[in-house]
Amino acid sequence: MLDAVELALICDEVCRISREVGKFIQLEQKRLTEHSIESKGLNDFVTYVDKAAETLLVSELSSLIPNAGFITEENTIEQEDREYRWIVDPIDGTTNFIHGLPLYSISIALMRQNQVILGVVYEISGDECFHAIEGGEAYLNDTPIHVSKREVLKDSLIVTGFPYKDAGRLEEWMRLFVYLLSHSHGVRRLGSAAIDLAYVACGRFEAFYEYGLSPWDVAAGAFIVQQAGGGVSDYSGGDAYIFGKELLAGNGRINAELLQAIREHFSEKAT
Ligand code: IPD
Ligand code: CA
Ligand code: CA
Repeated sequence: MLDAVELALICDEVCRISREVGKFIQLEQKRLTEHSIESKGLNDFVTYVDKAAETLLVSELSSLIPNAGFITEENTIEQEDREYRWIVDPIDGTTNFIHGLPLYSISIALMRQNQVILGVVYEISGDECFHAIEGGEAYLNDTPIHVSKREVLKDSLIVTGFPYKDAGRLEEWMRLFVYLLSHSHGVRRLGSAAIDLAYVACGRFEAFYEYGLSPWDVAAGAFIVQQAGGGVSDYSGGDAYIFGKELLAGNGRINAELLQAIREHFSEKAT
């Protein structure tokens, strides 16, 4: 089993690898053409850069922990039986990336059994590496970070995502959105769930909520929020937010109030 010192060294390496692959992603962004973009489904895009970045990440991470398994967005390699598993999104915010909007990230989590023990979210354009390991604090580059201290929803800035791949429950989702607009300082939509979570961890937002996300969108960021002193749950208040579809991550102080609003306006369990 990896000890704390080994895990810290691995985390440093994951940050280094993310910066290296981030440079590649940034260079290729300028070379994108319409022909670089493939559609995986309604409003669900992928480019050769997502695929190549994932290949680079998998190869570099493989050398850090031999025999670790992977769950990755573009190849969706599932190796359930491994003690350690990397969960990787090579570009979180691909729609922003293809439009040249500089808000996209690399998201990497490491799980031991079913427990996340390391999370890295690298926001490429701003060179901001958010990271945390089990038993430690959360950091933005070399500086420790903490969730915000705001106590109530009405004083909070919230971030969310719209379910553009699955429009089935859009109306209820918008009802919740409208409610929150008049019961908070505002609701933002950045387009990268990993960045949304990292920004909750460092106090730029009080909370993030979205449904229909995948493990590679949330595993790293949710862990960083927790290590920064925040709380994460599904919409029943339980912990099925990595492999389930519902996620609420907040500073801990406003979570109950936001959870109640979600239940009142987006009541049924997401399917
Ligand atoms: C997406 C982003 C977005 C969220 C979507 C995700 P991708 O990931 O995290 O913010 O709203 O649900 O799929 O496709 O850019 O890796
Ligand atoms: Ca993603
Ligand atoms: Ca992605």
